[in-house]
Formats: sequence, C-alpha cells, structure tokens
Amino acid sequence: MSYLDKIDKTRLPKHVAIIMDGNGRWAKSLGKDRSYGHMEGVVSVRHVTEAARELGVSYLTIYAFSTENWNRPESEVFDLMDLMMKALERETPDLIKVGVRLEIIGDMDRLPEKVRNRAMKCISETAGGHEMTLVLALSYSSRWEIVEAVKSIARDVKENKLTVQDINEALVSNRLTTRNYPEPDLLIRTGGELRISNFLMWQLSYSELYFTETPWPVFRKEEFYEAIYSFQSRERRYGKTSEQVQN
Ligand code: IPE
Ligand code: IPE
Ligand code: MG
Repeated sequence: MSYLDKIDKTRLPKHVAIIMDGNGRWAKSLGKDRSYGHMEGVVSVRHVTEAARELGVSYLTIYAFSTENWNRPESEVFDLMDLMMKALERETPDLIKVGVRLEIIGDMDRLPEKVRNRAMKCISETAGGHEMTLVLALSYSSRWEIVEAVKSIARDVKENKLTVQDINEALVSNRLTTRNYPEPDLLIRTGGELRISNFLMWQLSYSELYFTETPWPVFRKEEFYEAIYSFQSRERRYGKTSEQVQN
C-alpha cells in the first residue's frame, strides 16, 4: 500500500520546505561525477513538485543553492548554474501548463546575468499559476536574509518612517524574502545530514522536521508521501500542553 493512501487529504501541510542534499555523494558512490548527481537531482525536483501539486500542497520551497555554495570549486558552481538555467528553460512550459508559479528567494545580484535573466523570465511567464507556488532558494542563506531585513528596518528608523516600538515579530517577518508565504509546516532534508545549513532559520521555528538518509537523486514521490504521513502523526503544541491542544 502506498503512503499516498494513508495520507489524510484534509490535513495537508500548506507549505513544505526541502533541503535537497546528497547529490554529490550519491553520484560518487556510483563512480560518477558530482554533476551527474545534480542532473538526476533535477529529475527528483520534477517528480516531487508534481507530487506536491497533485496532493494540494500550496507552497513548496526548495533549497537549490546556498550562499556558502559559492565557495565550491569553480567548475562545480559553473555546472550548477548551467544546469539551473537549462532546467528553468526546459520546465517553464510545463509549469505554465499545470499552473505552478515559480518564485525565487535569495541574492539574485550574485547570479550570472544569463541565469538571472532566465529566472526572471520563468517568474514572469508562470506568474498566472494558481495551483501551487514553487519557491526556489537560489543564492540564499538565512543569515544573508536576516542581515538584509535588519538593514531595511534600520533605514526606516533612521528616516523616521518607523519607531523602535513599532518593531515586532510581524514586522520582522514582513521584511524577509518569504513575506508572502506562510511558514513551512514541514521541512524535509535528504542525504543523511542532521543540520539546517543556514536555511529559513526564522521561518522554521515551529516546523516539523523530517530527516532521511535517502540521497536527493533517488528521493521520489513515494518518500515524499511518507514524509507527509510522518508529519500527520505529529502533535504540534507550540509551547502548550497536549491537553490544551486537544481541547
Ligand atoms: C545538494 O547536494 C545540492 C547542492 C547543495 C547544490 P550536494 O552537492 O551537497 O551533495 P553532497 O551533500 O556533497 O553529497
Ligand atoms: C545545503 O546543502 C544547501 C543546499 C541544499 C542547496 P550543503 O551540502 O551545501 O550543506 P552542508 O555543507 O552539508 O551543510
Ligand atoms: Mg551536501
């Protein structure tokens, strides 16, 4: 029996975030280049995006390239940027067809111009999609995002558009790149590492975490369903007691 049949369709996570990890180690274990892992990883993105949309998840955020990933060998960064550009180009017609809107969070200024232009094109061409929002975290890190938010608040205080008393959680949330999305209900990390790696640190405060050894290139629909099934077995207490939550 598939986990799909066990999922309660009335209690789906609204927003799933994924740290897709393990591409390079998986490829190496097969005696191939790391870039082969990244290529197969794109296939997983396609399958998991489809699974999320078919189920009725509203937001899917995937960590595609971190601020720290700029420190990888130049050739790997080049391969990843090239792959990203080609994947965006190839997938755009399908995203339009199935109503998936693409958005990007991250420091786009650091992207090579060709990649940035392709990304902007895909964002504008899919803007009418209402089935699901696919958010690509590209050249993204949580610390970068928080620093940008602090700068923007400081600027407004300096220009008397805000007072220190105006600063609260909602205001900070509204200065983050994720201001238009609900916080992730579920975070999935593939590839066996048990860490957050500078991803959505503010937004994940109350997310349920799901870690799996499965490398991203072989993480496909069935394990996505398994993660959602696991999510549905959790009790989210937000600091309260179990009795409070159940009443
Ligand atoms: C995730 O896989 C993809 C990116 C970070 C771009 P990795 O490339 O980190 O693969 P491993 O973790 O080294 O196996
Ligand atoms: C996190 O994976 C970044 C992405 C998935 C894009 P990394 O492979 O870069 O993370 P670390 O280095 O293992 O923490
Ligand atoms: Mg990794």
